[in-house]
Amino acid sequence: MNKLNHLAIIMDGNGRWAKKRGFLRTNGHEAGANVVSDMCEFCIDNGVKILSLYAFSTENWKRPQKEVDFLMNLLKKFLLLKRDDFIKNGIKFNTIGDISPFSDELKNEIEITKDATRENTNLLLNLAINYGSKDEIIRAVKKLNLKGCEINEANLNAALDESEPVDLLIRTGGESRLSNFMLWQASYAELFFTPTLWPDFGKNELASIVAKFKDIERRFGGV
Ligand code: FPP
Repeated sequence: MNKLNHLAIIMDGNGRWAKKRGFLRTNGHEAGANVVSDMCEFCIDNGVKILSLYAFSTENWKRPQKEVDFLMNLLKKFLLLKRDDFIKNGIKFNTIGDISPFSDELKNEIEITKDATRENTNLLLNLAINYGSKDEIIRAVKKLNLKGCEINEANLNAALDESEPVDLLIRTGGESRLSNFMLWQASYAELFFTPTLWPDFGKNELASIVAKFKDIERRFGGV
């Protein structure tokens, strides 16, 4: 049975979920944010130690300004609302991606949440915001260059925002692509694509995917 240490999820389908119901796309994002707590709970109950969620990509700035503003505001509200839950449930909150372009207000909430949860060990929750693998790798190479370190696999891996390999990567919403998410870390991840739109995704479907993952023979290039 495979051990699931690091689960990564591309949370896709919020806009379509909302459209199907005659709502605004932004209502879909709100509904999507509500699913996160269940995912954290599942991870804690099932011994998953890292959960990485793709919330805003380096490419998502291309969306209409109103939607970008809404997502920034939703992130801030999410942190304010969930901080106590993170503390209570032993969740260490972290971000991956370059947060430098965000507002001071949002950066402040991020820092407060990171500080308040720094010592927690039940689950590491990585929220990928302004995240793209290509950007992450370029930033890592620049860090190594600046320090005069050799560019090799171990050094580059350690310089990434997240160094632990992804075991299982799930994308909701019916598309079968990685969209610049954890390309390095997912080198040997098992990939699952489900048509379920993210706001409809729940613990039951996650449990059935995880059960399938556990039975796969992972060879990591060996025989
Ligand atoms: C993809 O749906 C979703 C995003 C680009 C944003 C993900 C954001 C959330 C789940 C909510 C925010 C999360 C937190 C934790 C605050 P889409 O808009 O691409 O949907 P579509 O493919 O149906 O258009």
